[in-house]
Amino acid sequence: MMVAAAANPLPRHVAITMDGNGRWAKTRGLARIAGHKAGLTPVRMCISECGKRGISALTLFAFSSENWSRPAEEVGSLMGLFVESLEREIAELHAQGVRMRFIGERRHLPVRLQARIAAAEERTANNQGLKLQVAVSYGGRWDIVQAAQALARECSIGALRPEDITEERFSQSLALAGVADADLVIRTGGEQRISNFLLWNLAYAELYFTPKLWPDFALTDFDDALAFFSNRERRFGRVS
Ligand code: IPE
Ligand code: IPE
Ligand code: MG
Repeated sequence: MMVAAAANPLPRHVAITMDGNGRWAKTRGLARIAGHKAGLTPVRMCISECGKRGISALTLFAFSSENWSRPAEEVGSLMGLFVESLEREIAELHAQGVRMRFIGERRHLPVRLQARIAAAEERTANNQGLKLQVAVSYGGRWDIVQAAQALARECSIGALRPEDITEERFSQSLALAGVADADLVIRTGGEQRISNFLLWNLAYAELYFTPKLWPDFALTDFDDALAFFSNRERRFGRVS
């Protein structure tokens, strides 16, 4: 007997706010950075699972515009961790066919990290597998403002007319240009807020919140989030 297919078998684009690393470390009497390091295990798991399941895009929120206000020691350790992890993981990501991009205000990042990012993007640019976006020094408001600036520049030189700025055209100036809107946003760590993540691109995303702290986020938790998604009826403002 045929079983009716779920309305939304799989999201095309999953976006994750990886929260709770500090609390994970604290409960173990460890420094916060130990929690950030432990967060790499679920990062690897989610990337490989998205690849295996044919989910086309994954966006990971790693460091927000507001996270610059944390103590310098934590910020410094995190930047170091991004450099090290990228160096260590890039060959494996490339082997998995991942196309890697970073979104965020890059000029604020340490030069060494900027160089690693450029190298990783260049190396994986032609890969046809999972589109992986890592949001570092990213804020949804920054993204909208930088898009507005880019469009204003085009208007000021006469290359674009204000009335030609449609939603479609605006999207093309955002950091996630060319990537479908987020279908599912997962946030670990128990907070039920957006914290300036993809404001534009999550307009119609399904939101999944879990109290699990990010370093504890396991395959079964990812499955739970996907099952939640598949049970949602996405109406996009219409009626059933
Ligand atoms: C998320 O974990 C990672 C970053 C924001 C860099 P947190 O560091 O926010 O962990 P909690 O929320 O303090 O537990
Ligand atoms: C959101 O977590 C940013 C990332 C996970 C990178 P935060 O811990 O910074 O968010 P708030 O402060 O709880 O809103
Ligand atoms: Mg947090």
